[in-house]
Amino acid sequence: MSSERLPTIIQGGMGIAVSSNQLAKEVAKTGNLGVISGTAIDSVISRRLQDGDIDGSIRRAMSHFPNQDVIKGVLDRYFIEGGRDQSKPYIDVPKLTLKPVQHAVDLLVVASFVEVWLAKEGHDGLIGMNLLEKIQMCIPAQLFGAMLADVDYILIGAGIPAQIPNLLNQLALGKPVAMTVDVAESTMKHFISFDPGCIEGLSFPIKRPQFLAIVSSHALVAYLNKDEITKPDGYVIEGHTAGGHNAPPRNKKSKDEEGNPIYTEQDEADLVKVKNSGSPFWLAGGYATPAKVQEALAAGAQGVQVGSLFALAEESGFTSDLKQEVIDSLTSETLTVKTDGSASPTGFPFKVAVLPKSLSDDDAYEARNRICDLGYLRTPFERENGGVGYRCPSEPLKTYEFKKGNVEEAQHSQCLCNALMSNIGLGQLRPDGRRELPLITLGSDLSGPDYLAKKHTDGWRAQDVINYLLGK
Ligand SMILES: Cc1cc2nc3c(=O)[nH]c(=O)nc-3n(C[C@H](O)[C@H](O)[C@H](O)COP(=O)(O)O)c2cc1C
Repeated sequence: MSSERLPTIIQGGMGIAVSSNQLAKEVAKTGNLGVISGTAIDSVISRRLQDGDIDGSIRRAMSHFPNQDVIKGVLDRYFIEGGRDQSKPYIDVPKLTLKPVQHAVDLLVVASFVEVWLAKEGHDGLIGMNLLEKIQMCIPAQLFGAMLADVDYILIGAGIPAQIPNLLNQLALGKPVAMTVDVAESTMKHFISFDPGCIEGLSFPIKRPQFLAIVSSHALVAYLNKDEITKPDGYVIEGHTAGGHNAPPRNKKSKDEEGNPIYTEQDEADLVKVKNSGSPFWLAGGYATPAKVQEALAAGAQGVQVGSLFALAEESGFTSDLKQEVIDSLTSETLTVKTDGSASPTGFPFKVAVLPKSLSDDDAYEARNRICDLGYLRTPFERENGGVGYRCPSEPLKTYEFKKGNVEEAQHSQCLCNALMSNIGLGQLRPDGRRELPLITLGSDLSGPDYLAKKHTDGWRAQDVINYLLGK
């Protein structure tokens, strides 16, 4: 990995679109790494187009896409001049499948291109894109779209991203790729294929971005480093206090009275082993104070990845009301963040900020009608007749049971797709007039946000976070 531009601070990728192109750009301009979230970016871009793309930024980025026939297809399908009738719901994009229709693939490529292109516009700083390994079926098309916009880094966690280095190598050469996808109850191998030739008129090679794997243990570093074909260019070592999804504790039986996971020292990565691997690494999860940055550097890390502090910055995608609510509860010292073992359909523990008027409230959760219409966290399974079906623990329980899902484990599953769209002001409107409610995730070590909330009582910007962390 070329060391000349290794950043000290990585602004973590936070889905859905909390790590917006605006946030990533402001961080990149400081000489650090700004990261956009690629998760569900096809829905984000399609809904913004349906809202009229008021500032014209999406269409500006699109005008730089190398094939304007593809752009016309996307605009014809989703763009509404002046914005949609606000009493109507958004039109959904096609759900991810193993055999997607071409217009769904085009949208994944274009949406990733647009978000990266906007983050890179007007400066020469570094921009990355974050994806979750668990959401497999969008990965090849999204990597390619980001690469067409000259993305500098790809960062992937929430799973073991062993296939990514090779995918990036092949895509940079314009070669067709096939990524293995986990299909439950199947003994056969299943793939999602992607051919860069589906976008006509391109020339290759294109830049192959650096790849950072986000993992929680030194054992995974050793595993991925064993073979050149799986070895990333570096690691983000993320501890269990981080916002979003967390790796489950090693002792799966260790739970508190609410059934949520308890972490112990054996869940900490051995940083000496990570350092001895020779790969550059960054530390994440509660590394959001100047002292923790120094501690990370002293442990041999290149720097830190920080999430929550940036999630609450002005440029992040959270709506300003939600940001204010969180900052108010921080300053009044009433904010609780719990590690919820059953909220995420992925089965991974997920950090949930307990806030009224959000799905963290039991009554609000119960009042919501289960529906799975975005489907990013659906996973494929093999039907008895040999075909492939898709299921999500947060869909209606009867449907999930019919698909042979484990209903007991699905009882408290949250529809993260719809809630996280609501967090950024793109929540769906339901036929009964209700709007989908938000659900906020944050890290559980809030020392950094606590400090900035007191220092900047009117809120803070990405530049303030960088100044604070680097002691400027
Ligand atoms: C709102 C929010 C959403 C997140 N979403 C993602 C995500 O989509 N993908 C990911 O790899 N990490 C995600 N994270 C983790 C961050 O990228 C980062 O590693 C982590 O928050 C660092 O810990 P900190 O919050 O203590 O700084 C999220 C964190 C937050 C706060």
